[in-house]
Order: sequence, then C-alpha cells, then structure tokens
Amino acid sequence: VLVVSPNNPTGSYLNGEELQRIARLCGERRWALVADEVFADYPLDAEHPLTDIAARSDVLSFTLAGLSKSVGLPQLKLGWCIAGGPAPERDAALAALELIADSYLSVGTPVQVAARSLLEAGASIRTAIQERIRRNLTALRAVAGRYPACDVLRTEGGWSAVLRVPATRSEEQLALDLLRTERILVHPGYFFDFPREAYVVVSLLPPHHVFEDASARLLQFVNA
Ligand SMILES: Cc1ncc(COP(=O)(O)O)c(C=O)c1O
Repeated sequence: VLVVSPNNPTGSYLNGEELQRIARLCGERRWALVADEVFADYPLDAEHPLTDIAARSDVLSFTLAGLSKSVGLPQLKLGWCIAGGPAPERDAALAALELIADSYLSVGTPVQVAARSLLEAGASIRTAIQERIRRNLTALRAVAGRYPACDVLRTEGGWSAVLRVPATRSEEQLALDLLRTERILVHPGYFFDFPREAYVVVSLLPPHHVFEDASARLLQFVNA
C-alpha cells in the first residue's frame, strides 16, 4: 500500500486511526506499507501531524524522503528511506533493496558524503520555504475570502493549495484560459482525480509579490 503523507496536492496527513486500519490490512494480507513523506517537514493547518510512519508501524513499512523537498535541492538526487516493522522481514527487505540500489540506481558518493552538512545547512532553506508557503497561503485565503463562490480547502501540509472555483467551464478550459489570458499556471483538479469539478491547484512556492498578484488576478478571472 502506498500512502503520500502529506498528500500532494490536498495536503492531508495520514492520521493515527487511518494508520492503524492500513497497518491491519497490510498485516492480514502480508503487504508492505510505503509512505511517501517528502513533504512532512512542511505542516500548515496540521497541529501535530503524524510523521516517520515506518518508525511507528508494526508491519513492514518504508518511509521515503529526500533532499529535494527537505532542503530544496532536487538536482542533487539524494533520497532515503526509513525501514520499519518486524526485524526478520525488515532485514530481508533491506538486503534486497541494497542489491537493487547497488545494481541499478547507485547513489553518488559526493552527495552521500555531503549529506550531513547539507541537511544541517539546509535548515535555513527549510525555514525560508516554510515561511513563504505560510505567507502565500494566508494571502490566498484573504483574497478568496472576498469571493463567496470560492474556497481554499483545508491544507494540512505541503507546498500546494486547492481552490474550489465556480464551474462555469471545464477545468481543462479554465486552466488553458488562465494560461493564455493571465499567464497564470494552475493544475486542473482532474489531474488528481477529484470527484467533481471545478478545482484548481496552485503552487505556494512563488515569491510572495508574484503569488499575491497572481492570486488576485486568478480570483477575479474565475469570478468574472
Ligand atoms: C509526493 C512526491 N513524492 C516524491 C516526489 C519526488 O521527489 P524527488 O525530487 O526526491 O524525486 C515528488 C516530486 O514532486 C512528490 O511530489
């Protein structure tokens, strides 16, 4: 079972009860649990999110993370996993993973050696990203609050926000029109299998002045 926590783009973290239910299912069927937690360092509305799922789980589990999000360095291509669960199964899985990693996708030595320093030095980048996404989310909520037909969904964590907008045209058409007319790039909700239209997904990463200006124009456009 693969879970993404916090999920991209909805931002929801797996909670304790969900983890118990999934772990029970995995235990009954002898499945492994893989938790992609690359955005776990970036809580927004979640107060005490559950993280390091593999370390808490009593079935064979893996938590995935990496420099790409933790330190904002996707180019360095360093990811890692925490392995958890009963020792015999965990150790057998780690031996198999070691063979796969060595044979097919060996990690670069320089980045392995630098990992500790990068993680330490990256704390300031993490803080800067966190501050920016929080500030941008607040700005988006403020502007969306002026339009009763729009809502910013609860965003427990991550780098994106989901905006519910009037379904006056298809999400696809809306995304294309926004790009052509306003030069604003959003992802249509259907990319992520939302059950109905219309939602758009926006990145919270742009510099604040760019984001604030785009949010105002986006809300105006979808409500025109
Ligand atoms: C949920 C999620 N997991 C994993 C990745 C991949 O990250 P990486 O750059 O470490 O390959 C992404 C990339 O955006 C992501 O959104």
